[in-house]
Amino acid sequence: MRTKIAQLRAEIEALTASNAEELEKLRIRLLSKKGEITSLFNDFRNVANEEKREMGVLLNELKQAAQEKINTLKESFAKRQEDNTVGDLTRSALPLKIGSRHPLSLVKHEIAAIFSRLGFSIAEGPEIEDDWHVFTALNFPLEHPARDMQDTFFVERNPDILLRTHTSSVQVRVMENRKPPIRLIFPGRVYRNEAISYRAHCFFHQVEGLYIDREVSFADLKQALLYFAREMFGSETRIRLRPSYFPFTEPSAEMDISCNICHGKGCAFCKHSGWVEILGCGMVDPNVLKNCGIDPEQYSGYAFGMGVERIANLKYRTKDLRLFSENDIRFLEQFRAAF
Ligand code: DAH
Repeated sequence: MRTKIAQLRAEIEALTASNAEELEKLRIRLLSKKGEITSLFNDFRNVANEEKREMGVLLNELKQAAQEKINTLKESFAKRQEDNTVGDLTRSALPLKIGSRHPLSLVKHEIAAIFSRLGFSIAEGPEIEDDWHVFTALNFPLEHPARDMQDTFFVERNPDILLRTHTSSVQVRVMENRKPPIRLIFPGRVYRNEAISYRAHCFFHQVEGLYIDREVSFADLKQALLYFAREMFGSETRIRLRPSYFPFTEPSAEMDISCNICHGKGCAFCKHSGWVEILGCGMVDPNVLKNCGIDPEQYSGYAFGMGVERIANLKYRTKDLRLFSENDIRFLEQFRAAF
């Protein structure tokens, strides 16, 4: 038996097969029920007791070597076949799948396109920010809860360096560096220390808008936002501004649009109110203008900020925020037709 095993080992090492049928024949010859290795296992009971242990090990090694060799040969066939397909220049190019834009990119581009028709250009700012640009210059009092550890990610425990919690920080950067008139939108990613669920995430996206010039009024703000809402959600859309509070705007408001799912009749999405909130806005607080080196006696302006995921939910009726960052092809593929 020992010689038979050694012989088969050598044979296996040298094995080749030029196609799948040959390989299958080899497998049958060695490993099938009546194969050579299987019959060695059957002979095992005749091995003398004192040799059983050693023979057992040798036999198992032989079987394993045969299996491994057959698998390697099989893989090499599969690979060769793949290479051949790639190399076939006569093959039609049509089955190649075209990717699709991410739904958040689609929405972001649409928002940018709408505001560009009103004369807004795009600017961007850093995601890692300092306290001044995210909070202090924007009039946040020192004890404001948004500065709290619970909301803000600080970088390396330094209370001055943090991940921006909103894109309003870009307002400050722009006002510090440009002279009015300023008419810009700022799209970007923001971070908050929230537990991840279907309706909250530790990062999401916003688009901020800023318009600074002489004699900008609340009526201008309202007109721009009405235009935006109708372009985005259809010409029947109505808007409603509710008084609100933000440290950096005075007066401040939150804007609702008539629910575009039930058209104002009331549904689960709008919690049966007929309205859904989509953004915060207001007239830039004179203190903020001053902090950024702009004279509030000469200039005034409005600002607004909206969540891109929220707009996407309304547009595409998605309900779970996590879908936007999971990269699940089955979800993303559905937006192929959208651009
Ligand atoms: N930064 C606010 C937030 O993240 C949104 C916001 C509200 C932006 C009012 C504005 C504004 O520009 O005027 O919740």
